[in-house]
Parts: sequence; structure tokens; C-alpha cells
Amino acid sequence: MRILIAYASLSGNTRELARMVRARCEEAGHAVSWIETDIQGLADAGPDPRHDLYLLGAWTDNAGRTPPEMKRFIAELVEAVGKPAQLAVFGTGETQWGEEYWCGALRRMAAFFGSRYPRLEIEQMPHGERDALKVRRWTDHVLGMAADASPAAESEFEPDNTSRPHADPARLIA
Ligand SMILES: Cc1cc2nc3c(=O)[nH]c(=O)nc-3n(C[C@H](O)[C@H](O)[C@H](O)COP(=O)(O)O)c2cc1C
Repeated sequence: MRILIAYASLSGNTRELARMVRARCEEAGHAVSWIETDIQGLADAGPDPRHDLYLLGAWTDNAGRTPPEMKRFIAELVEAVGKPAQLAVFGTGETQWGEEYWCGALRRMAAFFGSRYPRLEIEQMPHGERDALKVRRWTDHVLGMAADASPAAESEFEPDNTSRPHADPARLIA
């Protein structure tokens, strides 16, 4: 798959998390376009803004808000490709801001896109085997969901796909 990873990071926590997600995607053989929204825009992803999967990462700003750089990037993305169905969010925050605001940007972003993917939320800088495992599991799960949703996977289940014989011809009845 062609995957776009775009992230906003002020002090490096979310950048580190984005690097871990990227490494897992590349290990699985996917091509990653990489955008640091603080200094880059969608044009930096290459001539074609369309990707099979979009992974947006952000820290959370005051009282659960989305950082302005990510908001700007989201506006640019929606202008270019609409609201992609295959989009997941990840990021870092601090629980000391309270349950209501903890990683609030991710909830806002996921709600804006109507994302059906789980969110990956990490306390400050990802560290230790526990966070590493959480990141790997989340990334693998998201990659699996996106692969299931890809046009190639869907075509196998099209009822009028009669070009290939199937072991159970009665499967389309009832
Ligand atoms: C001004 C400011 C406001 C913040 N507000 C929140 C917040 O509402 N909720 C939250 O979970 N974290 C909040 N944080 C914590 C950051 O989101 C957290 O430290 C994050 O890991 C920073 O990521 P970065 O290193 O990628 O910039 C705030 C941090 C700053 C500096």
C-alpha cells in the first residue's frame, strides 16, 4: 500500500512515535510518504496526493485542542482528496491535563474524519517494551484493516465477479 504519515510535534514526542509507526509500516513492505506538518505541506508527499491509507499524528494543545499546523494540513488534505475513509490517528498527550482533555486532539481529528480505526494514544514520549508493543500492535491492526478495505480485497467478494471459478458455486445463494 501507499501510506501517508503526517505528524505535528512540538518537542519531539510525537515525532518519535511517528518514526516507530513508520518503521513498522516499512518492515511490512509498504511505501511511506512522510510529512512533518510544522515545516511541510501535502505537496511534499509527491505529485499524487492520493494514498491507500492516511496516518495522522499529533500532540494535543491547550484543553484538548488540535495543533494549528495539523489543522492547516487537514484543510489541505481535505481540499485535495476529501475525507478519506482509510484514515487513522495517533499521538501523544499528558494525562495530567485530565481525562476530558487527554489526547483530545486525536478524538477531535477522528471525529472530524468519521474514522472507524482505533486511536493510538501514548503518554508523552513512547518508552519501554510496553509502548513499543502497543505501537506494533496498533500499526499491524490498522494495516490489516486497511488491506481488508482495499479495492483488491473487495473485488474478491463482488457477487458479479464470475471471471474466476469458485470452489463453492452455491455460496451466492441464500
Ligand atoms: C500549551 C500546552 C498545552 C497542552 N495541553 C494538553 C491537553 O489539553 N491534553 C493533553 O493530553 N496534553 C496536553 N499537552 C501535553 C502535550 O500534548 C504532550 O506533552 C505531548 O507529548 C507533546 O508532544 P510533542 O513532543 O510531539 O510536541 C499540552 C502541552 C502544552 C505545551
